[in-house]
Amino acid sequence: MLTLGIESSCDDLSMALVQEGQVLSNVTSSQAAYHAPHGGVVPEIASRQHLEALESTLEFALKQAGRSLQDIEALAVTYAPGLVGSLLVGLNFAKALSFALKIPFIGVHHIEAHLFSAFIENPLNYPFLGFAVSGGHTHLYQVESLGKITLLGHTVDDAAGEALDKVAKRLGLGYPGGPIIDRLSEEGDKKAFSFAIPQVKAGPLYTSFSGIKTKAVDYIEKEEASPKVSTHFKADMAASFQEAVVRSLEVLMERALAEKDFKQVAVAGGVACNRLLRNRLQTLCQKRNLNLALPSPRYCTDNGAMVAFLGEKYLTAGLTSPISLNAQARKTLGAL
Ligand code: KG4
Ligand code: ZN
Repeated sequence: MLTLGIESSCDDLSMALVQEGQVLSNVTSSQAAYHAPHGGVVPEIASRQHLEALESTLEFALKQAGRSLQDIEALAVTYAPGLVGSLLVGLNFAKALSFALKIPFIGVHHIEAHLFSAFIENPLNYPFLGFAVSGGHTHLYQVESLGKITLLGHTVDDAAGEALDKVAKRLGLGYPGGPIIDRLSEEGDKKAFSFAIPQVKAGPLYTSFSGIKTKAVDYIEKEEASPKVSTHFKADMAASFQEAVVRSLEVLMERALAEKDFKQVAVAGGVACNRLLRNRLQTLCQKRNLNLALPSPRYCTDNGAMVAFLGEKYLTAGLTSPISLNAQARKTLGAL
């Protein structure tokens, strides 16, 4: 079923064509340059930029796949969670196309799409442990089958990507900070600054990043107040903070694997691009003889392919959404 996926939940507009699980095109219109001067995503700018980019993004996605508008057989679109204005742009565009082309559409949950993005390039075996690590999420899920998902634990405050972005901003490194910290860490000493692994009362599968973020800010303030600022300070802080974030995520996964039996593990979301995290989780899974499904970086950050890929699975199972489907900014996935 030739499915067009539309992702517009935050600051990237992405569209992709997927057919029988194969990605034929995946085109992203990035807004990073518009938000960078503000040090973070400005919701109104995001939705307005989405509106302007709709037509050209669709054209590129069709061209890359060598297909025309009339070839599209179904639509999948992110309807939750995210910035409400951004979600509404993609959702209404999908509805308009569905109405005009007389084809079905399905609304998909952004985080569920991230989890399944790991299987665009890897075989899928249920049940799997799904780990979503992005700018808005650090959540662990047990996935039994399509749509049968249980939330096992999550961060109680900042998401991993959010903490990386905030510390990068405080260091004056730019936005988004995650990839910058990833690169700068190569030049720094990860042992230069120490951070304690957070312990959270809610339970072993819960974590927190606000404590280590505050600790990083303390270190930065102390350095700024000292008469002689070390030339290596930013790189050392980047490497030490990245190590703390990665270690916290590793501990969370170790605990989840100790609690339950999984056939495989899927790690997805923008932070899954992080090279240190990829290496460490690979080693962790190898030791336990577990297959780790890690998407290529282009499928880790927000992308239309994951939306089309998951949407096609639901559509093939006979599910569609009504034209009245609303955007939901805060809908959680798999909560009891
Ligand atoms: O999944 P995503 O594109 O959007 C959300 O749904 O949040 O994730 C964006 C997050 C940002 O916080 C960004 O800094 C982080 O992913 N990120 C990274 C890397 N690339 C993107 N974090 C660490 N290392 C990277 N290489
Ligand atoms: Zn995302």
